[in-house]
Amino acid sequence: MKEKSRSKNKFIPVNSPKIFKDEKKFVNKCLNTGWISSEGSFVTKFEESFSKYNNRKFGVAVSSGTAALEIAIKSLNLKKGDEIIIPTFSIISTALCVIKLGLTPVLVDSDLKTWNMDVEEVIKKINKKTKAIIITHIYGFPVDLKKIIRIAKSKNIKIVEDAAEVIGQTYYKKKCGSFGDISTFSFYANKHITSGEGGMLLSDDKKLYDKCRSLRNLCFGSGKNRFNHEDIGWNYRMTNLQAAMGFGQLKNISWIIKRKREIGKRYISILKNNNKIHIQPNKLKYAQNIFWIFGILLKKNIKISRDEVVKGLLKHNVQTRNFFLPMHRQNIFQKMRLFSKNKKLINSEYLATNGFYLPSGLGISNKQIDFVGKNLLKILEAKN
Ligand SMILES: Cc1ncc(COP(=O)(O)O)c(C=O)c1O
Repeated sequence: MKEKSRSKNKFIPVNSPKIFKDEKKFVNKCLNTGWISSEGSFVTKFEESFSKYNNRKFGVAVSSGTAALEIAIKSLNLKKGDEIIIPTFSIISTALCVIKLGLTPVLVDSDLKTWNMDVEEVIKKINKKTKAIIITHIYGFPVDLKKIIRIAKSKNIKIVEDAAEVIGQTYYKKKCGSFGDISTFSFYANKHITSGEGGMLLSDDKKLYDKCRSLRNLCFGSGKNRFNHEDIGWNYRMTNLQAAMGFGQLKNISWIIKRKREIGKRYISILKNNNKIHIQPNKLKYAQNIFWIFGILLKKNIKISRDEVVKGLLKHNVQTRNFFLPMHRQNIFQKMRLFSKNKKLINSEYLATNGFYLPSGLGISNKQIDFVGKNLLKILEAKN
């Protein structure tokens, strides 16, 4: 019976992107003209249109969201011993960009209502050594930014706003990614808009912009001194092919955000009365979720584990993905004895042990959402 139901319905992947006609047209233009590396007009077009969309002055397209974070932190010109506050519940890139540059990451636990970094904890961790805060908006719902930004400004602490998971989202009607001294984005295939792989830095500060452009391109010298390099940079350039794709996707962003909200609301309408799960807020006074992914957090003291639920869904050909593993629980950082003092970040550990997300990419149909939601309910109800 189980095998039968397995073969009956098609595999539902945790993410599948949607490619529009625009991307095909623009990518073909690159192929037909031979402009395939980073020298090409789509890179500038994408930078300009993406900064305009986010109400920022400058954009620097790069090869990934991880590259964007590394460049952002390096552009701040900090020194050894300087502290950067980061969420422990995030992608590892958030910690790597700090550690690789010899700076000190200071971890903050999560807020269980929004799954974002706990704002009060951020404020408690600020001290004289704090030089920057990485604010990462998690899973499509923004961090409540007001207080952090006010305090950071008053103490001359820089904000790096990681908006990878909230492209097109707003905080009090202003675009996420327009608040940081510098903001970063990822265009990996599961993001709201994709360039296959890719990322972007946005800022209103011309000096930071010039520095980021230089860091992305090996810090080449200017004029006759081209091969005399002034700083340690990277080749983190975005290709014209990727930019063509991102530019095409951006033309469809309104549809994308609308559809992502529909996906989220459809899951909510199926799951809302279940008392075994938490979900991220759909709406609070400062934002309406754009569901980068649709997350499920199992409540405490229920009789079914995350592994059982995930396995149950897989039997129905439904793929899921577990939530992030917090930074203080990463093997590599434990070996380095980096966060040995951080034993009490219990909310992030709870999220990591009990959270997973459902298929929520743009390729999913309403029928598939209903199938996933109803089977999840059945699995949860089977163990009482
Ligand atoms: C919040 C956040 N920042 C950064 C990244 C890294 O982006 P990339 O995969 O493009 O390197 C991700 C990737 O998922 C992310 O979710």
